[in-house]
Amino acid sequence: MFWTRSYWLPPQGSAFSNEVDVLYMALFWLSVFFFVGITGAALWFSWRYRYRPGRVTPHNTHNTPLEIIWTVVPLILCVIIFFWGMDGFMKYAVAPGEAMEIQVTAKKWLWQFEYPDGTRSVNEIHVPVNKSVRFVMTSEDVLHDFFVPDMRVKHDIIPGRYTEIWFTPTIIGEHHATCAEYCGKGHSDMQAKVFVDTPEKFADWMATGGDEWKNHTPEDWGRIQYEQKGCETCHSIDGSKSKGPTWKGVWGSSVKAKQSDGKEVTVTVDENYVRESMMVPGAKVVDGFDNIMPTFQGLLRENEIRGLVAFIKSLK
Ligand code: CUA
Repeated sequence: MFWTRSYWLPPQGSAFSNEVDVLYMALFWLSVFFFVGITGAALWFSWRYRYRPGRVTPHNTHNTPLEIIWTVVPLILCVIIFFWGMDGFMKYAVAPGEAMEIQVTAKKWLWQFEYPDGTRSVNEIHVPVNKSVRFVMTSEDVLHDFFVPDMRVKHDIIPGRYTEIWFTPTIIGEHHATCAEYCGKGHSDMQAKVFVDTPEKFADWMATGGDEWKNHTPEDWGRIQYEQKGCETCHSIDGSKSKGPTWKGVWGSSVKAKQSDGKEVTVTVDENYVRESMMVPGAKVVDGFDNIMPTFQGLLRENEIRGLVAFIKSLK
């Protein structure tokens, strides 16, 4: 009966995903069995004992064997399901001691990851294959929820508190993570990529952040950052108004902005202003917009900042 699994569940990307699936499918088929049995019996009885002139309904108040059966059988099933679920929950809740720890900070509307050596990334995590990884998660604003379907993990992220999940990835390649708790208008943009790498590729990524940027023109690389780092959540590139100013035609223009001390100033959009706006977004907030952008200090590598600047320049 488990052949249906591959149709409606994602690939089993982590060591415990098979166990999760087996329990899930067992519950599913148990429900199918009782659904068909109970509705089938109800339909059968309503036909079999339908109204007929002259038929008298017998007066039954009790059937002790039947009542014992429909009490004891579900009780046994519930106890089995409880202990089966608890066994899985215990494994799922406690990470092995040797697990690598990644700090996850969720905020409106991006994911920030921090490795033990201080390496940081946005909306993108790399993990080594067949090694346990533990995620210690917190939020800077509202409730979010870290959900990696391929790994069969999902957990709420709560401001002012730490929650954790862990998994051991088994399939090399790209997996998808998403926010599974409605957290405002950018909720559906809160996506991340989980890359499961070979040990060599992972070591290389940790050291350099990868060399993917060499394969792109600065402009293209900037467009990729625009999509991956969450810029597109708030900045349009077609001139339409979003949560932040559009990037179209902004390069070289003069904009009115409010400094953090409340003073109104006119600034020219150049390398320095763009860079400052990424690192200290509240320094000069363009009139008509709220000071809601998170800082990207320490989150963007030099090649990524150069790319973004080139990309903004290209949006005439
Ligand atoms: Cu974060 Cu929904």
